[in-house]
Amino acid sequence: MQRDFINFTDFTDFTNFINLKKIKVFSPATVANVACGFDVLGFALNNPGDEISIELNDLGKIVLADETPYGLPLAPEKNVTAVALQSMLDALKSKQGFNITFLSKIMPGSGVGSSAASSAAGVFGANELLGQPFTRKELVQFAMQGEKAASGSAHADNVAPALMGGFTLVRSYTPLDVIPIPSPQIFATVVHPQIEVRTSDSRKILRQEVPIKKAVEQWGNVAGLVAGLFTNDYDLIGRSLHDVIVEPVRAMLIPEFYAIKQAALDAGALGCSISGSGPSIFALSKTEKTAQKVAQAMQDGFNKVGIENHVFVSPINKEGVRIAE
Ligand code: HSE
Repeated sequence: MQRDFINFTDFTDFTNFINLKKIKVFSPATVANVACGFDVLGFALNNPGDEISIELNDLGKIVLADETPYGLPLAPEKNVTAVALQSMLDALKSKQGFNITFLSKIMPGSGVGSSAASSAAGVFGANELLGQPFTRKELVQFAMQGEKAASGSAHADNVAPALMGGFTLVRSYTPLDVIPIPSPQIFATVVHPQIEVRTSDSRKILRQEVPIKKAVEQWGNVAGLVAGLFTNDYDLIGRSLHDVIVEPVRAMLIPEFYAIKQAALDAGALGCSISGSGPSIFALSKTEKTAQKVAQAMQDGFNKVGIENHVFVSPINKEGVRIAE
């Protein structure tokens, strides 16, 4: 029997067909570096996250509004979401305008990919409203421009998992080559001491040269971690969660870092390190029960010395940024 199919090539503007003008987007927090993988490894969390509403407008420009307590910059050239979105619109040679309202936000400077979540939310939401001209993977290059605006460096280790979910590896930046990495069930504990560390500052203190001995240790661990994730080998994952290059330098920005790390390991975590550029500290555990025990131990460590902190436990978020409504 002959069937009549709609020929989608007849629709130059797919948006008109689906009549989607406004959506709410949830974009998850992420843990970058994952100990040994500075600027190349990351994974997404279920919570916390950014929530934005995004809609098409007829003004030919990006209009921003902020309902969060953080006083976000609303000039489009200073706002990471708008910078990322503008780079996507430039690639499309599109003059489409958008209204974006920031509804809730990961605390800036917390080390769990606050600027990445905002950048990913903008490009993902606009891509949905424009009829998905890009894949999630293709959106990474645009979201990276938001990271550049925030920290001076267009790294993708937070934006890639925020957009694609799960663990991701940035195998190369030129050309950009992002690889999704499967993982066994694993739980993250993240503790956020209530101090702010700016990514730009915590990048400036890094040494620009690495002794070959340290480099060998580091790339052995990166390969071991990826192999462990692929083969569900928790012991190998644990053995590989070591950072001998960046953590020793940045640890000085986080009070009690080594005591908290030891407390997490004593409570049964597979490994523990700095989340992104800090000050948050993350640990990975095989079960949720252990991850909760680790959460208590890490929190106790900060409480003991009177440092206010927030702690949360999350499985790996496999989906990444999504339409919330
Ligand atoms: N890879 C980045 C860093 C993540 O460690 O500086 C923070 O945005």
